[in-house]
Amino acid sequence: MTTTEGVRAPTSADDRELEGRVAIVTGGAGGMGLATAHALARRGATVAVFDLAAPGRTELASTLGVPADRVRSVAVDVTDGDQVQRAFASLLEERSRLDILVNAAGIAPPTAFEDITEDEWSRVLAVNVHGTFLCCRRALPAMRGGRWGRIVNFSSTAGKTISTAGGAHYTTAKHGVLGLTRHLAKAYGPDGVTVNAVCPGLIDTPMARAVLPGGALERAARSFPVPRVGEPWEVAELVAFLASDRAAYITGAALDINGGDLIV
Ligand SMILES: NC(=O)c1ccc[n+]([C@@H]2O[C@H](COP(=O)([O-])OP(=O)(O)OC[C@H]3O[C@@H](n4cnc5c(N)ncnc54)[C@H](O)[C@@H]3O)[C@@H](O)[C@H]2O)c1
Repeated sequence: MTTTEGVRAPTSADDRELEGRVAIVTGGAGGMGLATAHALARRGATVAVFDLAAPGRTELASTLGVPADRVRSVAVDVTDGDQVQRAFASLLEERSRLDILVNAAGIAPPTAFEDITEDEWSRVLAVNVHGTFLCCRRALPAMRGGRWGRIVNFSSTAGKTISTAGGAHYTTAKHGVLGLTRHLAKAYGPDGVTVNAVCPGLIDTPMARAVLPGGALERAARSFPVPRVGEPWEVAELVAFLASDRAAYITGAALDINGGDLIV
């Protein structure tokens, strides 16, 4: 006799599966962060964008296609512990819960190793790793309190091998993001909190266009098994899945999404 036990997902991928959830997306004003904010909002979540370049609330709501009371836009430098603390405190005071944290803020200067100054090295580590640490630290108490949480950190193919265009500091930082992700996954799984990383390859965002200008992005992608540059929404769909109930048994993973550029 056939059984559907273990086969049929307890929830379906319908458009409202994140209804009632509150999400923070760092770096949510542009590129894959913005695409992720859109994917979460479309599934019913209230989305707070934390970004250096925070758009106005009305503008963000209109971009995401949801009412203004379902979005928040906060100007935050994720490397600044006080700013991060204030932004989390204010959101938690207003919404009384936090379910999803997506750490997408990042920078990837393409500087050659011998030209990287100490300041630049520190800044790249600060945005990509320290910012992720600061935000996870503020998010975890609320998630543990609710016995449910989803953290998705942005690593990169650079976190598994070396960066295509970013510098040695970027490669180092994205390896660091994977270490933090794995450690937190182990520590907080029993509290109902999953912690995963996505490792995008070349995705068509302002960052990728800045480090690979003038057609270099397309040229770099031509040899991939899927011979094109990835779209931000394709990564956002993966993040939204990881943020859902359907991904409850995935934690500590570093999921590649790169058109087959890195097959391991
Ligand atoms: N584009 C790619 O090909 C690619 C590939 C692999 C990984 N990534 C990673 O994906 C993430 C998103 O990248 P993207 O390509 O969408 O970049 P992007 O530059 O298009 O967007 C990044 C966003 O982060 C914000 N940001 C930068 N520093 C910040 C800070 N200190 N505090 C708050 N916000 C800050 C920016 O204002 C911007 O809105 C990054 O972590 C990046 O390293 C990108």
